[in-house]
Amino acid sequence: MTQDELKKAAGWAALEYVEKDSIVGVGTGSTVNHFIDALGTIREDIQGAVSSSIASTQRLEALGIEVFDLNSVAQLDIYVDGADEIDGGKNMIKGGGAALTREKIVSAVAKKFVCIIDDTKNVDVLGDFPLPVEVIPMARSYVARELLKLGGDPVYREGVVTDNGNIIIDVYHMQIKDPKALEIAINAIVGVVTNGLFAARGADVVLTGTQNGVITTK
Ligand code: A5P
Repeated sequence: MTQDELKKAAGWAALEYVEKDSIVGVGTGSTVNHFIDALGTIREDIQGAVSSSIASTQRLEALGIEVFDLNSVAQLDIYVDGADEIDGGKNMIKGGGAALTREKIVSAVAKKFVCIIDDTKNVDVLGDFPLPVEVIPMARSYVARELLKLGGDPVYREGVVTDNGNIIIDVYHMQIKDPKALEIAINAIVGVVTNGLFAARGADVVLTGTQNGVITTK
């Protein structure tokens, strides 16, 4: 199977976690696109979705799935999203697609985070994938200097503006041994909106597409 076929297998496996008449939290990315396609086949059975990006909203609506404003929803049963890296403690790096802030907000509201990945995303230690940080544009240089002090190599992601009108700095060469502590430390830098470490709230269930089928880790 190709990597995309493994992503598709994980995305479709997540349908099992969707409750009847529920509103589903939906992430962003190529793996989630398969989940959205799967959700489209049961659209009559759900109320709709809350989306983490303009791109996912457009795909959901094109399939006839109603997209609710998060402020009109008190709680979500599940949030389904991909990851750029995930470790054995279900801590993740996300934000390769620049949607990390809305992803973190929607996932915070959900009772259960279902992470869908292909098996290339599993790592022992997070950090080979550059850590995305969403930053208020006027704070770009200051935040980069502070990220240097934390031991990373910050690189401005040229030409990218987030759905919130901010910029992304990718931090290279971090060996992230304590993801939760680093998540908190980076978020404490003035001018940072949020960073792509999902450790304070990691995944609850991981569905990994492999050549031997989809493996579930709880
Ligand atoms: C979007 O900003 C990201 O957090 C994605 O969830 C992550 O990059 C996984 O993307 P793919 O499913 O495309 O690999």
